Amino acid sequence: MPVKLYIKTFGCQMNDYDSRRIAHLLGESHGMVTTGNANDADMLLLNTCSVREKAQEKVFSQLGRWREWKETRPELMIGVGGCVASQEGEAILKRAPYVDLVFGPQTYHRLPAMVDQLLSSRCGVVDVSFPEIEKFDSLPAPRADGARALVSVMEGCSKYCSFCVVPYTRGEEFSRPFDDVITEVYELAEQGVREVTLLGQNVNAYSGARHDGGVITFAELVRYAAAIEGIDRLRYTTSHPIDFDQNLIDAYAEVPELVSHLHLPVQSGSDRILSLMKRGYSVAEYEDIVQRVRQRRTDLVLSSDFIIGFPGETDDDFEQTMALIERIGFDQSFSFIYSPRPGTPAAPLPDETPSEVKQARLSRLQARINSMSADIGAKMIGTVQRVLVDGPSRRQPTQMSGRTDNNRVVNFSGVAESRNRFVNVRITEALPHSLRGGLVIDENLNSDMMGGDSTAAHGTA
Ligand code: SAM
Ligand code: F3S
Repeated sequence: MPVKLYIKTFGCQMNDYDSRRIAHLLGESHGMVTTGNANDADMLLLNTCSVREKAQEKVFSQLGRWREWKETRPELMIGVGGCVASQEGEAILKRAPYVDLVFGPQTYHRLPAMVDQLLSSRCGVVDVSFPEIEKFDSLPAPRADGARALVSVMEGCSKYCSFCVVPYTRGEEFSRPFDDVITEVYELAEQGVREVTLLGQNVNAYSGARHDGGVITFAELVRYAAAIEGIDRLRYTTSHPIDFDQNLIDAYAEVPELVSHLHLPVQSGSDRILSLMKRGYSVAEYEDIVQRVRQRRTDLVLSSDFIIGFPGETDDDFEQTMALIERIGFDQSFSFIYSPRPGTPAAPLPDETPSEVKQARLSRLQARINSMSADIGAKMIGTVQRVLVDGPSRRQPTQMSGRTDNNRVVNFSGVAESRNRFVNVRITEALPHSLRGGLVIDENLNSDMMGGDSTAAHGTA
């Protein structure tokens, strides 16, 4: 009987990517098969996030539940990976001695050896070091799972924003060699992948060594990846304003595969708060980038991260954030109340804003962005969107579901053959979290589904 592996993932897309690679790795090394049912598993792994306190607390409450299972099934293996593991290391075994494995974001490639060590010694194994590139060299070749794939191009962060724990848990910025990244994209395209998301904590800080000693920037990587046959759509996340150079801005005019959707975290609309956060840019500089990208892509849709209630944030600072939101117009936000993280420079700052005030600010910001998002959705009604089809809709299996260029989910009546292909869909209805539409039956428009060539095109009225 194969060992059944259950992985619970918290946090960012980097963690999603890492969890998929872990499942693949342990499948190859120990024949483990993943299960969606934790009760049924022989090995339970938590891939954790420590960006906010709440995320960290969830780890220990989840471990508490698993502890009871282990009392009745001592052979059950429990592992903790990700940023909490990196931050806490051995302390996890002290607080939760029933945990068998502790591994960091940079050491999960060593899991097969750690599992062997555990099976022979039955003692907890901890490895949360930062060996960097060794990880990618040791992972099995990527396996496509549908027409969309994530490709990690760089790891870590060297920006040291005053509130953020990531540079300490994931280490400093480190770019994978260009040849490795481009080979991975090529191999995924060969397996039928049509859309790639280039991933990194600060993906546009990418600076990858080339076999001939040269260095490839992120804007160049985008161009090389887009040029690979079969790759018709390119996304990336998360980019940082200070690494957003002119060459990347120009890519929006020159690389049609690059989507008209940009996630560019601003965090606050107040220069005073941005400086306290040590973000390294001003509000005007952020707006200038957006304006220059929009000059090249009039249909650009933006999303951002916001931190509300950073220590010392006044009503006026918050109003400046709201004013920026009005000027820019966002489609989506990842917005949270500031959470002090131990060991970060902002942690000791006095924070006198009452939590009800922070909550009210957050609700107002989210309501405004939701209404902007509804307006963007409403404007899409009547347009024809190029949709990459994932498969049948989860809620309505008689419908097909896919994503537009600007990352909206669209459900439409379509044929099963459209799965993993691009089709053109006329949008008929905009709901809060998805769009509805009808397949455009036009041989020229849906040439890809009919077996013809596809060219990247943006929504047309
Ligand atoms: N590299 C990205 C950038 O340019 O900002 C961010 C990556 S960070 C892991 C993801 C998001 O978590 C941040 O953009 C920020 O909004 C949020 N975050 C990080 N630390 C936080 C904290 N202490 N409290 C609340 N939110 C936090
Ligand atoms: Fe965190 Fe700032 Fe880096 S938010 S991930 S330290 S860019």
